Amino acid sequence: MAKTALLKLDDKEYPLPVMTGTEGEMAIDTRTLRATTGHIAYDQGYGNTGSCESQITFLDGDNGILRHRGYPIEQLAGHPDFVETAYLVIYGELPNATQRKEFGLRLRKNAAVETQMQKILEGFPTSASPMAMLSAMVSALPAYYPELATNNFEKDLKNFDLTAAIAISKIRTIVAMIYRYQKGLPFVFPKQELTFCDNFLHMMFSEPYQDHVPLPEVSHALNLVLLLHADHEQNCSTSTVRMVGSSAANLFTSISAGICALSGPLHGGANVAVMQMLQSIHDEGDDGTRFIAAAKSGSKSNRLMGFGHAVYRNFDPRAKIIGEACDVVLKKLGINDPLLAIAKNLEQAALRDEYFVSRKLYPNVDFYSGIIMRAIGIPMNMFTTMFAIGRAPGYIANWKEVASNPKGRIYRPRQIYVGPAKRDYLPMADRK
Ligand code: ACO
Repeated sequence: MAKTALLKLDDKEYPLPVMTGTEGEMAIDTRTLRATTGHIAYDQGYGNTGSCESQITFLDGDNGILRHRGYPIEQLAGHPDFVETAYLVIYGELPNATQRKEFGLRLRKNAAVETQMQKILEGFPTSASPMAMLSAMVSALPAYYPELATNNFEKDLKNFDLTAAIAISKIRTIVAMIYRYQKGLPFVFPKQELTFCDNFLHMMFSEPYQDHVPLPEVSHALNLVLLLHADHEQNCSTSTVRMVGSSAANLFTSISAGICALSGPLHGGANVAVMQMLQSIHDEGDDGTRFIAAAKSGSKSNRLMGFGHAVYRNFDPRAKIIGEACDVVLKKLGINDPLLAIAKNLEQAALRDEYFVSRKLYPNVDFYSGIIMRAIGIPMNMFTTMFAIGRAPGYIANWKEVASNPKGRIYRPRQIYVGPAKRDYLPMADRK
């Protein structure tokens, strides 16, 4: 029998339907609240608000569970093929051999960035933030593909396969271009015969007349890093994509807004903060004791970076996977990164410490992702753009859910107004 919650307000009772998800997670449906009671539900920052029903990702932060379309992240990470996971996230099923081939082909065919668009990039100062350049370049895509980005759900969905492939493939190419532009190096064109990740490494690191051929371990590590970022439920940037998309904005525009949201240090930029923290521990010859003591002061500015998470009250499953991969990758590449040893000591010390244990603060994905990216050769200022390449499938899948929902409506939260009460206009001469 359907469950109902009862709200008692001024001696009147209002039944509210209870919704249950596939995994037994429950919500009180407050959609009728304002119409029936004249009240809205207040939830600053939406921390306790379900903004949509979604079939893409299941996340149970208390138990450290993350699944895409039902598949545990541990199983997907055991076969690290970013493109396969991207297909799964976007289309809902693992691809069969033909679907995988066709999807791969669409990505390969749409990798190059138009010459005119290259000129936009060259208009930026070389010192510009890579995330600012990336979001601007992605927001320019509708100008080059007006037929795919009509701001009409029905029309845009007809071309969805192509638009999605352009978005994933070109975001990766643009990131490589940004890297080369900032280094004063000529752009490298994508090669159709290369895999998604090898093509990225080729566009990043090839020299004239000398193609960069990555070690299989590096390709493997890059696939893993991107795959682990493919989607993460209703985080800040994904919710932004849905919000912008709900106005019938096209896929490229919606993704560009998501990239803007991702650029903030509380979201996509935390991996940089972790590396800076580990580096300063290394430079000071400390063992991390000082950082742990400072983090326990309760001050927000002294937090142990890469620890804690808005939804996980347990190990972030991605952190476990990436922490183990760090060991393997660095060993295979013969890299002895002192920051890895510092990170491991810090993790062990924090996991033994009452402060972190009692608050259920565990390493998150950012704690080790920087170390692995550094081993691949990605400079720190590009880390967040790598996150954007990885998260593109999640943005696309979420936009598609919004665009294809026949009952969808524009996202429009409400507020409690706490400004001045009504007052009358004062002519200038009467103002103090
Ligand atoms: N170091 C020290 N103390 C911490 C940390 C930390 N990293 N994180 C939380 N705490 C403390 C808080 O001070 C609070 O203590 P109190 O109960 O004594 O007041 C308690 O733990 C609970 O913390 P909340 O504020 O409820 O945690 P919240 O869910 O708001 O914040 C956040 C989550 C922002 C991720 C936080 O843990 C943090 O700042 N971590 C460091 C930054 C970071 O690694 N961000 C990456 C997140 S992963 C991602 O975006 C991909």
